[in-house]
Amino acid sequence: MTQQAPVITIDGPAGSGKGTIAKLVAKKLGWHILDSGVLYRLTAYAALQKNISFDDEDGLAQVARTLDVVFADGEILLEGQKVTEAIRSQECGNAASKVAACGKVREALLQRQRDFRQAPGLVADGRDMGTVVFKDAPVKIYLTASAKERAKRRLNQLKEIGINVSLTRLIREIEERDDRDMNRSEAPLKPAEDAICIDSSDMSIEQVVNKVIVFIDK
Ligand code: DC
Repeated sequence: MTQQAPVITIDGPAGSGKGTIAKLVAKKLGWHILDSGVLYRLTAYAALQKNISFDDEDGLAQVARTLDVVFADGEILLEGQKVTEAIRSQECGNAASKVAACGKVREALLQRQRDFRQAPGLVADGRDMGTVVFKDAPVKIYLTASAKERAKRRLNQLKEIGINVSLTRLIREIEERDDRDMNRSEAPLKPAEDAICIDSSDMSIEQVVNKVIVFIDK
C-alpha cells in the first residue's frame, strides 16, 4: 500500500478564521492547501450563471462534477474567466451554503477534494474535512468564535475590498448560515469526535497558529 500524504483538517463556521490559519499553517509547513469552500462557491456561481435552479439537484451535481476550474498564481479561473473576487461576495457565500446542502453536489466534489492530498502534506479547510473527506487525518482542528466576533472580522474583510454592510445584518446572515450548515442532513458542520476544539474569540492569529502547530509537532 502506498503511504498517503499527511493531512491536517481545519473545520469551523464561517468567519472563524480557518482560512487565514490554514494558509499560515500550510506556509509554515511548506504543505499544499485546500480551501474546500471555494469549490462550493464556484458551483453556486456557475449554477447562477447557467440559470440552474437550486432545487434541481441533478443539475447542480452536474455543474459540480464538470467545473472547469484553474487555480493559478493566486487567481481562480472558471471556464477561463477570472472569478477570484466575485466568488468571495457575501451573496455567493450564502448561495454556496444552499448548494452545499445538496448531497449529490457533495458527492460530486468528494474526489476532487481528495485529489489535493499530495506530498509533502495537505492543510484542508472547510466544514466536513475531518468528519467526511479526510476522516483518517492524524490532526483535526475545529476552530470557532462567537457570531459577533466573526461578524466583526467579516465586516473588516469586506471593508478592505470596498464593500460596506451593517454589523447587525452580518450577524444575522452568519447565524442563518451557521444554522443551515449545522442542521443540514448531509455532512453537517460539527467537530469530528477526535477534533481539537479551539475558540479563537479572544486569540490573535499568531496565537491560534502557534497552538495548531504544537499539535502537529506531536
Ligand atoms: O468557507 P466558505 O465560507 O468559503 O464556504 C462557503 C459555503 O460552502 C459554506 O456556507 C458551507 C459550504 N461548505 C461546505 O458545506 N463544506 C465545506 N467543506 C466547505 C464549505
